[in-house]
Amino acid sequence: MIFFDDEQPPHKPVMLGEVIDFIRPGVGDVIVDATVGAGGHSCEILKMIGSDGLLIGIDKDAEILKIAHKYLSRISKSYKLYHADYTDLNYILSELKISRVQGILLDLGVSSLQLDSLERGFSFSKEGPLDMRMDRSKGLTAEELLKKLSQKEMEDIFWRYGEERWSRSIARTISQERRRGGNIKTTTQLAKIVEKALYTSRKLPKKRKIHPATRVFQALRIVVNDELKSLEYFINNVHEFLASGSRIVVISFHSLEDRLVKRAFLKGQTTSSLKILTKKPLRSHDSEIRENIRCRSAKLRAAERT
Ligand SMILES: C[S@@+](CC[C@H](N)C(=O)[O-])C[C@H]1O[C@@H](n2cnc3c(N)ncnc32)[C@H](O)[C@@H]1O
Repeated sequence: MIFFDDEQPPHKPVMLGEVIDFIRPGVGDVIVDATVGAGGHSCEILKMIGSDGLLIGIDKDAEILKIAHKYLSRISKSYKLYHADYTDLNYILSELKISRVQGILLDLGVSSLQLDSLERGFSFSKEGPLDMRMDRSKGLTAEELLKKLSQKEMEDIFWRYGEERWSRSIARTISQERRRGGNIKTTTQLAKIVEKALYTSRKLPKKRKIHPATRVFQALRIVVNDELKSLEYFINNVHEFLASGSRIVVISFHSLEDRLVKRAFLKGQTTSSLKILTKKPLRSHDSEIRENIRCRSAKLRAAERT
């Protein structure tokens, strides 16, 4: 059993036991945590690979890397952190003169630290600027994106990346608000517009299991950070980085991500580069979901390089 205290990152990593069981980090291994976040999974991996191993941690978010560094440095020096997109792994490995690694972890989406940080603009329940960039050094914010998109483009984005069935009404209401002259600048402002769009239409159900703005926020976040493009590219080429017998573990949080992972693993299996280890994705236990509601939607898939 793994215990957490002040020496550990401030949140529990999702499905930590399962991740470790699949990756099986051994002394001297080189393991890539491609979405290192605050280092929750990485701390455990670092302990297991010892001083002869190397943990390569990557994150688009420069601020969160400082937190990862704080916790990892208390364990050992056998790690390197990179402020990069995980699709840059080939450059990172060639800089380190490493051709193959013994394990790769992708724990997708935003971390709870990013969600809880008001000024990052990821959460609809807290007032903050509509930013949503994981890498705040570049790219358009969600506010800038919303200002630029046509009504039809918004509708397509909410439909395609949020799987939001009321995408048309929501895009129309946002468009009306913009015409009234107001820029949509904050998270709660947008959340209220979405609620208005949903609840003023008589067709809509009174109750939804999730907050009415969940899908719109997911869609904007995916587009702002180009999340699916990075995932699709990486997951279809991941076998190039894995040594024979080494494993990749992916934790996804919505069906668009999980579908890409499932397809890439199946393709890898038919070309004989990968063996799927999880016929069906693993889900968090009820006890984990009780402690961290985010785990409710987590799905873990793993594959081994043949
Ligand atoms: C769910 S969190 C990871 C949490 C981490 N496993 C832990 O236990 O602390 C996902 C992290 O991936 C980062 N991220 C998302 N997409 C990325 C990408 N394409 N390249 C690099 N980092 C990415 C986010 O900034 C975020 O910090």
